[in-house]
Amino acid sequence: MVAATPLESPYTVGPDALPLVIEARDDRDVGRLCDWLRAERGFVQERIVRHGALLFRGFDVREAADFERVARAIDDDLKNEYLGTSPRSALTSHVFTASELPGYYPIPQHCEMSFTAAPPRRVFFSCLVEPAAGSGETPIADFRKVWRDVAPEVRDRFEKRGIRIVRNYTGAEGGGRFDLFQLKRWDEMFLTTDRRAVEAVCAREGFEPHWLPGGRLRLVSTQPVTRRHPVTGETVWHNHVTTFHVSAAAGEYARIFRLRPSLRSFGWWQLSRALVAVQRATRSSDELSMHCTHLDGSEIADADVDAVLSAVWKNLSVTPWRRGDVLAIDNQSTSHGRLPYAGPREIAVAWA
Ligand SMILES: [Fe+2]
Repeated sequence: MVAATPLESPYTVGPDALPLVIEARDDRDVGRLCDWLRAERGFVQERIVRHGALLFRGFDVREAADFERVARAIDDDLKNEYLGTSPRSALTSHVFTASELPGYYPIPQHCEMSFTAAPPRRVFFSCLVEPAAGSGETPIADFRKVWRDVAPEVRDRFEKRGIRIVRNYTGAEGGGRFDLFQLKRWDEMFLTTDRRAVEAVCAREGFEPHWLPGGRLRLVSTQPVTRRHPVTGETVWHNHVTTFHVSAAAGEYARIFRLRPSLRSFGWWQLSRALVAVQRATRSSDELSMHCTHLDGSEIADADVDAVLSAVWKNLSVTPWRRGDVLAIDNQSTSHGRLPYAGPREIAVAWA
């Protein structure tokens, strides 16, 4: 399934890396880029799978509608039902703000909606407002390599004991959107206050809904540890442990401090450790806003979560955003996340 670089390509392709960068030379026109993407579909799909992600740089992508055209030229089957944890706002019918979680909060690596019945094939991001240098990147990691880099005994424990996810949502009268440990409300996630409609989505997705006093909703679900890549057959670490586990954010802050040592990043690391300790001391495992355990409810060892985080960071690719960039990710092999930032930044997302 090797597709050679098109000989007549008007764009600069390469070098061989994650992501593969496809850069405008003289022609920055979005319409012609979309025509090229459709004409070279075989090449584009082969490269997105081989590399894990493509970065289109230097094109006249100025607003959400331009981004949507580029995303559709790669995969026209864009979806707009979002069952993840980030607060998002719609920019078009199929383009959203990537996350309205406050900038200080790092988003650990994950494959988009890996815990749903049919996770997206592709996820797209575009930089509409560039963050300050050295902040706010959307790092990516090849989760095929992550699986290979996790120690066999850790992989065995995950495979034998499985993964169970618990998420606790408040209802319409519940708490604020931006509490570090509070997910958005269930009616915000399901876009309805109708419990029957929520239960229908849960049945389709394999989430077990538990309605709790105070209008709260607990979702319990399981997910595979790995998935087989549908094109290459490779085994991919494809689950949300590094995002949902209660210790994950502190582990992420520890590594961000090592990447970008500063008083501020040290402070966030220490604060996150303290907050995790408080959460664990005051709530049972199933009452944490989001967490995961093994299938039998026993705790996943923090050391195992940390071993996976180390493998993720070993494979992390951090590319500074430039305005107009479009990143197209093979969500079946490659994860994404977010490094902290302060000040202006607008990244849009779409998925197929
Ligand atoms: Fe995401």
